[in-house]
Amino acid sequence: MSLPTQFKLNTGAQIPAVGLGTWRSEPGEVRKAVSFALKNGYNHIDAAFLSTGLSDSFLELFPVKPDGTRSVDRSWDQSETWRQMEELYKAGKVKAIGVANWSIPYLEELKKKWTVVPAVNQVELHPFLPQHALKEWCDKHGILLEAYSPLGSEGLNDLQRLIWVFFGAPLMFDPAIQDIAKKNDVSPATVLISYHINRGTVVLPKSIKEGRIVSNSQVTSLSDEDMDVLNGLAAQGKAKRINTPLFGWDLGFDDWYKQ
Ligand SMILES: NC(=O)c1ccc[n+]([C@@H]2O[C@H](COP(=O)([O-])OP(=O)(O)OC[C@H]3O[C@@H](n4cnc5c(N)ncnc54)[C@H](OP(=O)(O)O)[C@@H]3O)[C@@H](O)[C@H]2O)c1
Repeated sequence: MSLPTQFKLNTGAQIPAVGLGTWRSEPGEVRKAVSFALKNGYNHIDAAFLSTGLSDSFLELFPVKPDGTRSVDRSWDQSETWRQMEELYKAGKVKAIGVANWSIPYLEELKKKWTVVPAVNQVELHPFLPQHALKEWCDKHGILLEAYSPLGSEGLNDLQRLIWVFFGAPLMFDPAIQDIAKKNDVSPATVLISYHINRGTVVLPKSIKEGRIVSNSQVTSLSDEDMDVLNGLAAQGKAKRINTPLFGWDLGFDDWYKQ
């Protein structure tokens, strides 16, 4: 079975199935990685936190306080931000609008006011955090999920990062994922990336290494049996959210930290 290289948005436009992640790449590194990726077949760059100068990119800014927590304006109604984004879309100034880190309770609230359904919802997604209920909700409403931290990210502190760099993120050395990799004669990273395309979601692996940027775009078709194993790992006690930035805000996911 050949896998899609693009998915259709609810606007009718196509979005490339694999995009390059850029979070925590150093400025010099990210320029090189993005330039290399664009020359090697990528035409989807996830540029949150950065200004790339690409006309198709969208700049997200999170003001951060000195203690590292996000500076959140609690008096602001997010549906007003969405209304303003809808205006941009309706005026033809942007091709599509979407959200990131939105859980079902928040989407249910937004749904009461939206006149444009978000095209995408970018969330942490991988076999340890498959978010089956959110996927079902978004599928039902025509919202495409985008998977961030698909490889298990980089670790949250210096020690984790050191271990991750030498041995790979925990997802990569999970025995079930390694078995599927061996069976399909591909790397664990390829299994983790391919999981999303086989599941019908966009995936955003980050790398600054040329070899990995190339190999991360080469996905493989996984059998129903392999997909069942990957989809079931979290329910077997391996559930794990890796990225819990200090938003200082309850994002409404069942496993989100309490304030
Ligand atoms: N909207 C949000 O709130 C949000 C939050 C988090 C992330 N994101 C987006 O999603 C992207 C991806 O998530 P992420 O950066 O957290 O983590 P990720 O893509 O899961 O993992 C990146 C780590 O995996 C390594 N890696 C990449 N390819 C590999 C391979 N083939 N084999 C072994 N290791 C490999 C990278 O190292 P090298 O670079 O050295 O290869 C890096 O250490 C981000 O970059 C960002 O664009 C969005």
